[in-house]
Amino acid sequence: MILPIVALSLVAFVTADGPNDKLKSCCATIKKGDKDCIDRFCDFNAISQTNILNYLSTCSDKGPTVGMMWDCASLRHNHSECCAAKGVEGKCLEYCAAQDGVPTNYLDYLFCTESFNEIRECFHEHLDKNAAYSHKH
Ligand SMILES: *[C@@H]1O[C@H](CO)[C@@H](O)[C@H](O)[C@H]1NC(C)=O
Repeated sequence: MILPIVALSLVAFVTADGPNDKLKSCCATIKKGDKDCIDRFCDFNAISQTNILNYLSTCSDKGPTVGMMWDCASLRHNHSECCAAKGVEGKCLEYCAAQDGVPTNYLDYLFCTESFNEIRECFHEHLDKNAAYSHKH
């Protein structure tokens, strides 16, 4: 009679929310954001160093959308240490120090796109171990 219980708890473990589910559930709480940007880009697989510029140029003038999505991905956590350990350097570390939100002067950071996959990895690993962020407004 023990077997069914083991099987059930295994299913619960396998279906537990992963980082991408938590990211999406947070984005679902963004009320004032641009729906098209959120639908297209609120996904760890949809934003990489190859399309981060496309994302920023499409969505950065859509009000608070990018900042709120960034909060969902970063949990407003200081990822500086993680990023530095992965080789992210200099001004690009400002994208990792997310406790105050994302820098909004994107054009100053064009050269950081090559670090973006490392930054994304830090956010992803952190979200794996922590609860989803939620926008209450
Ligand atoms: C973020 O973390 C880095 C590295 O641990 C630290 O040097 C920096 O002071 C922190 N920034 C803030 C605002 O806490």
